[in-house]
Amino acid sequence: MAYSNRDRSVTALYEQLIELEERLIPTGLHVFGLAAEHPQRADLLRMVASFDRPEHGARSLPQLVAEGLGLDGDNETIMLGANETSELIKSVVRDAIDLFSSNGMEEALGFLNSRANVSPDKSRPVFELLAKISCQLDSNYELDSLRRALRGEYIQPGPGGDIVQNPLVLPTGRNIHAVNPYSVPSHAAFARAKTTADALLRRYLDEHGRYPRSIALILWGLDNIKTQGEGVAQALWLLGVRPVRDTLNRATEIDIIPLAELQRPRMDVVMTVSGIFRDLFAPTMGLLDKAVRKVAELDEPVEMNYVRGNVLERLETAEAGFDEAVTRVFSNAPGNYGTNVNFMVMQSAWQNEAALGDLFVTRKSFAYTRDSKGRTVEGREAPELMSRALSRVELTYQNIDSFEVGITDVDHYFEYLGGISKAVETRTSLRPAIYLSDSLSAQTKIRSLEETVRLETRAKTLNPKWYEGMLKHGFRGVAEIENHVTNTFGWSATANAVDPWIYTEITRTFLLDEQMLERLQELNPHSLQSLARRLLEAHERGYWNPDEEVLERLREIISHLGSST
Ligand code: BEZ
Ligand code: MG
Repeated sequence: MAYSNRDRSVTALYEQLIELEERLIPTGLHVFGLAAEHPQRADLLRMVASFDRPEHGARSLPQLVAEGLGLDGDNETIMLGANETSELIKSVVRDAIDLFSSNGMEEALGFLNSRANVSPDKSRPVFELLAKISCQLDSNYELDSLRRALRGEYIQPGPGGDIVQNPLVLPTGRNIHAVNPYSVPSHAAFARAKTTADALLRRYLDEHGRYPRSIALILWGLDNIKTQGEGVAQALWLLGVRPVRDTLNRATEIDIIPLAELQRPRMDVVMTVSGIFRDLFAPTMGLLDKAVRKVAELDEPVEMNYVRGNVLERLETAEAGFDEAVTRVFSNAPGNYGTNVNFMVMQSAWQNEAALGDLFVTRKSFAYTRDSKGRTVEGREAPELMSRALSRVELTYQNIDSFEVGITDVDHYFEYLGGISKAVETRTSLRPAIYLSDSLSAQTKIRSLEETVRLETRAKTLNPKWYEGMLKHGFRGVAEIENHVTNTFGWSATANAVDPWIYTEITRTFLLDEQMLERLQELNPHSLQSLARRLLEAHERGYWNPDEEVLERLREIISHLGSST
């Protein structure tokens, strides 16, 4: 039977609600040395349990329950499914984890056996892992290690990362070690990257009917540590190459994937790497640069090799040589970090949006490459080269890899992805398509920036579960709410990606509700005033057009706080 439009809209709405419901929402800040509280811990354990963990001999709990109940569905369908079957599976999992938290492992195993026919020998490995994690969450080494560090004593090392992705990061309070840059990207990272990058291209194709002429990628250091180089692998896969390991098992060479196998054109990618990435991954930058150069030199039709097409075009139309035309890896000047776009936004120190993109290029247009004579170029100032490279970009993208930090939690996403998108927009006179991925969940999901801003706003900024969690921290909590509003505003300034209703609802929730206003004023009048000022600035810059009474109220609040702070 054909779906009516109404049915389709209802289903789409339901799927969005499920997406929000399934999102792990941090409730409050971490307090150094303290253990996580119960509800937060149950959410975390549920996320950990929803992935296969072959390294711990544990299978995904939702999957085990589905099989026990004789129901179909892979993990992805269950986790994102908007139907009674998924609801049933998820509620059994939820109850089992709650039982585990309150009454212990044996009760949870017994419950799963009787409720869902999951035999204890299958579910035990999952709960053994959860028990270990639970215990480690109770007994972190944070304060003890700090004291030892201050005394100059030895601190046990441990991997860094996201607990859900890699439970071995627990217990916290150890000396975090990163990766061997030569091991990046790992095989697992390359496999995941293929799925994500293919989904990215598919999304662009669906919306534009063709591939982008060039893609700008942001690569961060910590993310590539946590994912063992997923971002790096995405870049390589888009180019249509794979890493090759030398006799010392170091990824120092690349192999060209034949077009027949790739079954699509090789994408042109412009890579902007953070200062941290540059410091940690020098050999990887060399690998990326080498990959672009090799691809540019392939004897292939330009319709199937966009790097070659763009390089040849540049050689024809300008006096640039091959080395200039093929430069694609940029970062800060040696010893420098960041784009400063975030500071410019926070301080309202800009006249027009183009200034934000220009600042990005000023800060990040240092070329890292090896020229045709084999000489290493480490951070040569090249704003013209970067501007040229960006002037062909039609898609900008960043991979998000952590459950803990999203695009409105910190100012770094808008300074990087927003900054480069604005730089592209002013150089092409067209706003690029801006996408982010959620490579952290079982399903790889590509979202537009606008969709991601909406999701983050609903899951966090406007969600009582999130802001009440923050407000428990008093002064700091109000500052976090204000940060979220400023970071949201950053997406207006750099990418015009914030729906006006978002500002309306923020104003309604935090300023027009008298009780809330009083609480915020009591806890932190400084941040409250900044928040109100930012909303007024959003209006003055044309991102939101509320009623005159609302504006009047905002001005009143600002001036009232001005006299009391
Ligand atoms: C990085 O890991 O490269 C990074 C972290 C925070 C801000 C910017 C970059
Ligand atoms: Mg930071």
